[in-house]
Amino acid sequence: MNNKKFYITTPIYYANDVPHIGHFATTTIADALSRYYKKTLGEENVFFTTGLDEHGTTVEKSAEKNSYKDVQKFVDEKAKFWKQVFDKTNINYDYFVRTTNKKHEKFAQVFIQKLIDAGDVYKDTYVGKYCYGCEKFLTKSDLNEQGLCPLHRADQVVETKEENYFFKLSKYAPKVKELLQSGELNLVPASKRKELLARIEAGVDDLSISRPKEKVGWSVDFPGDKNQGVYVWVEALINYLSSLEINKKQDFWPAANHTLGKDINWFHNLIWPAFLLSAGYKIPKKTFVHGFLIVKGQKISKSLGNVISPDELIEKYGIEGARYLVLANLPYSNDSDVSFDLFNENYNADLANGLGNLVGRLTKLCELAKCKVIIDLEKLDPYKHEKKVENYVSEYKLHKVCEQFSNELKAFDLSLTQTKPWEDPLANKEYLELKLNELLQVLQVYEFILPQTKQKVFKHLGIVDSGRKVEKIKHLGGLFDRV
Ligand code: MSP
Repeated sequence: MNNKKFYITTPIYYANDVPHIGHFATTTIADALSRYYKKTLGEENVFFTTGLDEHGTTVEKSAEKNSYKDVQKFVDEKAKFWKQVFDKTNINYDYFVRTTNKKHEKFAQVFIQKLIDAGDVYKDTYVGKYCYGCEKFLTKSDLNEQGLCPLHRADQVVETKEENYFFKLSKYAPKVKELLQSGELNLVPASKRKELLARIEAGVDDLSISRPKEKVGWSVDFPGDKNQGVYVWVEALINYLSSLEINKKQDFWPAANHTLGKDINWFHNLIWPAFLLSAGYKIPKKTFVHGFLIVKGQKISKSLGNVISPDELIEKYGIEGARYLVLANLPYSNDSDVSFDLFNENYNADLANGLGNLVGRLTKLCELAKCKVIIDLEKLDPYKHEKKVENYVSEYKLHKVCEQFSNELKAFDLSLTQTKPWEDPLANKEYLELKLNELLQVLQVYEFILPQTKQKVFKHLGIVDSGRKVEKIKHLGGLFDRV
């Protein structure tokens, strides 16, 4: 295997949903990592996917509710919408997944056939609860004290008795547990691994992997049985392999780095590795399971009216501001409580009064002092030297990267305050040149966090691909307006 390969994925979002800050956060984390590794490993060694989960009852019902006769047309329009949101927020994905792509559907069937051939699938009757909100059969451990789904309304949970195909998940649970314990199934942070292990230890049932076609018309046919449709979650997980197949990037497996929220850890770190083991594939390289963004202590939900959309964020803070804020508040291990008050504070401190002000002041003083900055782009490649950033990135701690960035800006500010170059810019010419050079280094290091800002400043100074001397420095203000 080529160790340099880095395949980064986000969950594929339910097509009927409207993108909110939570989806945006997961996607931005993956985008930042993809940008970082494209720089350090080379563009050709990184593959970044995001996209939509387009099958299942919830999508079908939502199409109906919105008066669409043709579900395909509904998901086509949704895909266009989600893509637009990711495009305008500068998410630089390499492939946008859509599970109604015929090639994906075919691949999913071939994959399931492998589970059947391995002797891991049998037919049985399922009796129990199904939650349409989660699109899953609820086991005892999923239910709250009232016997309801803790995440969805009571009317979304129905008693079900139906014929299904089952996958022998219980057979694979001990092996997956072992892989989790040894770290071979590399799941960060440790707290999420512990939670999962505890759930596995509490007992694992076999998994229903199909539903009668009459109940879920909008699904992929189960291999060898047209009366059954593939359970949407099973087919969704397979996107991580079908995307490589479709794009002829099979050599990126098993270099997969899955990024996802805690709500779907069970699917990604028990069910998915079990499927892979049964079908004869290697397990993914790493999975990052983050917590949730919550608003004023509460889960983000339409009914609570506290949904923050990516549009609202970019309107208030710009594309770069929105990106920075979700990364700086990344719910790494615990949930992160956010609000516009907090965002305003972070944005003003780190971007408007921080970076924006610094670039403005320094370029102004450099202009007055007639500085010539020698930019040596060879030296401006500190990805190699910035061990701290590298370590944080390898642990997915992008909030720590932002914290370090903020501290570096503060150190800059302190140096300026102590040196007071504005009292005599010409006499401080050398100092100013040095500081501007250092600031460009900072922009280069944190380019994966603030890509457009770096580009803007470099373009303003006329810095292109190779090292060059900037003859005339002109003031650059208004990078980040205060809110
Ligand atoms: N379709 C499934 C995933 C299939 S992947 C093979 C699904 N979709 S979802 O639309 O519900 O998106 C879930 C993901 O969105 C979460 O795992 C998480 O990454 C992200 N988030 C949704 N709400 C979130 C927050 N409030 N905070 C942070 N991330 C959140 O589940």
